[in-house]
Amino acid sequence: MIQFLLNGELRSERQLDPNVTVLNYLREHVAKPGTKEGCGSGDCGACTVVVGELEGGRIRYRTLNSCLTFVSSLHGKQLITVEDLRYQGKLHEVQQAMVDCHGSQCGFCTPGFVMSLFALQKNTDGYDKGQTMEALAGNLCRCTGYRPIIDAAEQSCCNRKPDQFDAAEAETIAKLQAIAPRETAELNSGDKRCLLPLTVADLADIYTANPQARLLAGGTDLALEVTQFHRELPVMIYVGHVAEMKRIDVKPDVIEIGAATPLSDCYNVLSREYPDFGELLHRFASLQIRNQGTLGGNIGNASPIGDAPPLLIALGASIVLRKGSETRTLPLDEFFIDYKVTARQEAEFIERIIVPRAKANQAFRAYKVSKRLDDDISAVCAAINLTIVDSVVREARIAFGGMAGIPKRATACENALIGASWYPGCVERACQALAEDFTPLSDFRASKEYRLLTAQNLLRRFFLETHSPEVETRVTAYV
Ligand code: FES
Ligand code: FES
Repeated sequence: MIQFLLNGELRSERQLDPNVTVLNYLREHVAKPGTKEGCGSGDCGACTVVVGELEGGRIRYRTLNSCLTFVSSLHGKQLITVEDLRYQGKLHEVQQAMVDCHGSQCGFCTPGFVMSLFALQKNTDGYDKGQTMEALAGNLCRCTGYRPIIDAAEQSCCNRKPDQFDAAEAETIAKLQAIAPRETAELNSGDKRCLLPLTVADLADIYTANPQARLLAGGTDLALEVTQFHRELPVMIYVGHVAEMKRIDVKPDVIEIGAATPLSDCYNVLSREYPDFGELLHRFASLQIRNQGTLGGNIGNASPIGDAPPLLIALGASIVLRKGSETRTLPLDEFFIDYKVTARQEAEFIERIIVPRAKANQAFRAYKVSKRLDDDISAVCAAINLTIVDSVVREARIAFGGMAGIPKRATACENALIGASWYPGCVERACQALAEDFTPLSDFRASKEYRLLTAQNLLRRFFLETHSPEVETRVTAYV
């Protein structure tokens, strides 16, 4: 059985198909059709809902795409939908602001925008344009244009007054504490099951007993199999309650990040250590997706265009894989073998990711090239990590996404750089070596020629951004 709060009402579900998404649950099981389906694939934000979770004795509210969230992952949490905002016959401040600022025309996107504005208002103190842009980047509107919606964000954030959720906070916390998961839970219907362990040891045992199960973390990729390909997932294991896999430990030499840590929770620690990692995370899909998707999931699904793997490979990250009680540590670049083929064995899972900390003389940059700035997938993603001492390249780790069937190191390029003087000539030789490293494909995101030229130009850009000023004049002659 799973239990969660639908706004303030306790819901207990025993016999429910674990393949049901929150969106379909709302619309078809509890007659709440305010949440809309636009794309069903995490791209438009029309289905945005807010989920509240206990964190440090308070409730933390986050937006999610309900089309990509399975109901099982609501266990122990509070779900708030657009129907819950109007209270005692009065619109919520964010709804009223949308009316006042003319933020809606056809209205199809509006419930999603309203929920993003609601979470923004809950998570900010006053109006901040950057945070507003971030909060709304995952919501698409075809008719209104964004200025009135941004105005609505400003109005509702500047004039924030306590609402019904603030008034009920102590009561909601008590209810959430009462339903906090205390043992492995299960949601099932017929042969279909989702198991929800609480510890990594239980997860390992359950996975060993059910090696055919699909691991469910954020579900942003897995749910597509159901919503886009109309497949059924007979057995799932939800890892979002495994505390050990949501921990971040900053050690003297490394940062260890639990594989089930949402990407938005990785932001602070990774952007502090590597500002470019933070910038890339800002552009990683949308806030809704970053609130759901996990670092381990982004690695485990082995997409050649996943954004985190090239950066982690360039940084020399490794992963801890666990099977039963056995663990092994693998350099991340050895994990990816072929398109969607990894070194993961049956019933083995990624427990945590180990990222080396920044060192002196290290220059790390990451570049994502996509058609849109926000909420888009890379045509090419480059991560370049050089150690340069006295203008000589001592170490080089360079990795790309979108250039091969896997996220891949550019070893010929690295070899062309190691030991060379950090001057334009060596950069050009390294650019030529990139053509040995990769034979990219053409697809609807980019042609193979564009990909290779972009990769080379990103290396040149890295040089321009990191070279010492005295070589500037020589650079000009090359570009
Ligand atoms: Fe478009 Fe969910 S329906 S993001
Ligand atoms: Fe029509 Fe936004 S008001 S899509």
